[in-house]
Amino acid sequence: MMNSADIRQTFLDFFRSKGHTILPSAPIVVKDDPTLMFTNAGMNQFKDYFLGNKKPPSARVADTQKCLRVSGKHNDLEEVGVDTYHHTMFEMMGNWSFGDYFKKEAIAWSWELLTEVYGLDKDMLYVSIFEGNIQEGLPKDEEAYTEWKKVIAEDRIILGNKKDNFWEMGDTGPCGPCTEIHADCRSNAERKAVDGKTLVNNDHPQVIEIWNNVFIQFNRLKDGSLEPLPSKHVDTGMGLERLVRVLQRKTSNYDTDIFSGTIAKTEKIVGKKYIADAATSPSTGGSRREAVAFRVIADHIRAISFTIADGQLPSNTGAGYVIRRILRRAVRYYYSYLDYKKPLLHQLLPGLAKQFENVFPELQKQVDFVSRVVKEEEESFLKTLEKGIVKFNERAQLHKDQLLPEEEARKSIDGITAFILYDTFGFPVDLTQLLAKEIGWEVDMNGFNNVMQQQKDRSRAATAIDTEDWIILHDNSINEFVGYDNLETITRINQYRKVKIKGKEAYQLVLQKTPFYAESGGQVGDIGELILPSPSGEGVRLSVFDTKKENDLIVHFTETIPAVLSGEVIAKVDALKRRNTELHHSATHLLHAALRNVLGNHVAQKGSLVNNEHLRFDFSHFAKMADEEMAKVEALVNKKIRENIP
Ligand code: SER
Repeated sequence: MMNSADIRQTFLDFFRSKGHTILPSAPIVVKDDPTLMFTNAGMNQFKDYFLGNKKPPSARVADTQKCLRVSGKHNDLEEVGVDTYHHTMFEMMGNWSFGDYFKKEAIAWSWELLTEVYGLDKDMLYVSIFEGNIQEGLPKDEEAYTEWKKVIAEDRIILGNKKDNFWEMGDTGPCGPCTEIHADCRSNAERKAVDGKTLVNNDHPQVIEIWNNVFIQFNRLKDGSLEPLPSKHVDTGMGLERLVRVLQRKTSNYDTDIFSGTIAKTEKIVGKKYIADAATSPSTGGSRREAVAFRVIADHIRAISFTIADGQLPSNTGAGYVIRRILRRAVRYYYSYLDYKKPLLHQLLPGLAKQFENVFPELQKQVDFVSRVVKEEEESFLKTLEKGIVKFNERAQLHKDQLLPEEEARKSIDGITAFILYDTFGFPVDLTQLLAKEIGWEVDMNGFNNVMQQQKDRSRAATAIDTEDWIILHDNSINEFVGYDNLETITRINQYRKVKIKGKEAYQLVLQKTPFYAESGGQVGDIGELILPSPSGEGVRLSVFDTKKENDLIVHFTETIPAVLSGEVIAKVDALKRRNTELHHSATHLLHAALRNVLGNHVAQKGSLVNNEHLRFDFSHFAKMADEEMAKVEALVNKKIRENIP
């Protein structure tokens, strides 16, 4: 029997023999595409080749890509661990043609690889093709149908609708009709009793899709229309975990050598046995939830580790929050169902890194770092998890006791409780939903979203400025910053307005050109004065107490204004304060560089404050800094200051 590494290698070797260049996986975290947080398909990194924006390195490419499907259009999180064939992270092996070969070759090669190279029994395979769609004006995929007829019995070709047989990356982007290959892994007796064809695309755990061949012909535009692409391309994706399971004749992905090492290690740590089919035979002693917990852990640790290794630390927003949610889901499972109350996940890392050393070496290279990040996250969540669960149970009990008979049907956890669990106990709302589902309840998501919105509105109101309309003195005038070279300049007032800041009246003035630095990058805005002409000739001095940016405008704040604002104005920055602030700003950059040098390149700026008296620098790191580390950073910064680099 081939192991998973051989199976992967065989795929790559096969396509190399068909003239394909083998490329490495792109990172699982997407940094430069605003429509995606994570790589969710092998083709993401090739999007620009399909759209014609970039030239590919070769017209034929193959690879194995780390993918994550837990957010956006393709989202499998709820199923993961509950069933035996969905994953958060999975490997997608793919072959690509960029304007080169098309349906004929793609179909013939996929059949050759599966049946002749891997030796799969033809009787266990079914294929589907796109039946067409009237609303979209798309015809049936006759070409794919004709090609399949050459190799497979016609009654094994299934017509599929837009949902199953028209593949799209997201709401916009490259897309096209696809043909899928499904494997029926049931026993002979079962196959005799029920025709496998009726089970394709019907969520049967043993009749599963293994390979999707997409024929990229269109670009889906923002208005929903399809624009034909200048060239036709092939984009295929075969889930390695599923293929390995089929080839190793297992009934669950978790019984393959991809996951068995991690599961064995988990068994050892928690002192319990994974009983794969606990769902169907409770008499074996393992509970169904225990089995789910083993699978959740084996799955989630891969997603967590590889995303962190690719540069995404867990955090409270965006992609970082997705990782935190996955991690917390795993913690909750081992805590509640494997009765393990200490950090567990990080202990699985060395084995995992070793397993993937030859294909994704980035994990092995950073294994200590990733383990520490995971451990810190586990520790911090474990501190509040128990209290949160108690809180949840109390609320659920209270609701149950208060439920009127007519309300029995809508058993739901109220939005405020869900929000408290989120805000105080760190429960991502999908974790609360999971807890609710387990007792047959729901979470009032509208209520939760309302409370969340109210909190956002409150914090916005706390910093809000109430503004009147601008009064324009000089229209279309430039608003130029001259303050790198000058701290004093002669200028004019372009526009001004009255504002209320937390109830206190003030004025905002925009100058034609200004030496005042507006607050940005953590550096405070300049203070100083504006000297306006006065009848006595002495000039009126206005104190500027802050400078901020509003879009591209540099806005000066004063407490009062004189009656006349026209004429020339001298704008003068408080030089000593500015100078000291600049020193602290430079020091911030030195500190940032020194931190990365001493702690590692994962250190990222999360916020900063720079004023004339001190600087504060917030950064991401997974542990409290040790005294020696701080001393090293300090020494490095001082050394650089003494170099006095111009
Ligand atoms: N893009 C297709 C998929 O993700 C085939 O690679 O299924």
